[in-house]
Amino acid sequence: MTTASPKRYSPLWVTIHWLAALLIFAEFYLGLTSVGLPPESKASILRLHMPLGVTALALMLVRLYLRWRTPRPEDVTAGNAFLDRVGKVVHFALYLVAFLLPLTGLALSFRYGLPPIVFEGQGSMPTDLNPGLHGLLFALSIPLILLHILAALYHQFIRKDNLLARMWYGK
Ligand code: HEM
Ligand code: HEM
Repeated sequence: MTTASPKRYSPLWVTIHWLAALLIFAEFYLGLTSVGLPPESKASILRLHMPLGVTALALMLVRLYLRWRTPRPEDVTAGNAFLDRVGKVVHFALYLVAFLLPLTGLALSFRYGLPPIVFEGQGSMPTDLNPGLHGLLFALSIPLILLHILAALYHQFIRKDNLLARMWYGK
């Protein structure tokens, strides 16, 4: 017996998509602000950046579980086999960076011994803090997110298939 696919993403899925997107944008802002500050001022920003990043990771874990274990709408077509393939690859890459960004952030913070400095005020911030792989992933994520937003706008306003409604609440 086959079950028909739902017409839209579940309300929990929608909530997680938009909350994760919001957190990721807030994290870009906080991360970039911290990089521009002198070492002694970084801790106050990282006190927010680090736990929010871990929250984003937790949300992504729930989302991955939903993707594996709950039904989701059929893929829509962009009207072209190549673009449909690109869409799949971009969604996969978005999942990958949304996991790797917080994981590399965690690795970075442990490598420099930041948790006691940031949360307990023990010791001082390193003067040679280098975002390394975490910064590289940030740079990679920007074109991916831009492509994703452009694709959503293309569907909404050029193909007029009301794709955004699937990632929103409703019947
Ligand atoms: C969705 C999650 C995250 C995003 C989008 C994000 C984004 C960023 C960005 C854009 C930067 C600046 C990079 C650069 O200019 O090269 C940064 C720096 C940094 N992030 Fe994250 N981050 C995330 C999670 C985390 C987590 C979970 C931690 C640690 C627990 C963390 C720790 C750091 C640290 C220590 C820096 C360096 C700050 C500095 O050099 O002053 N990040 N992050
Ligand atoms: C303003 C920003 C954003 C817009 C307008 C947007 C829009 C959308 C829309 C309309 C869909 C539904 C596509 C469909 O029905 O097939 C979707 C799905 C998706 N979005 Fe976004 N999105 C945004 C930000 C993000 C960000 C920052 C991420 C990074 C994690 C992301 C990752 C995904 C993924 C992976 C999917 C596929 C469904 C899933 O597996 O959850 N989106 N997005």
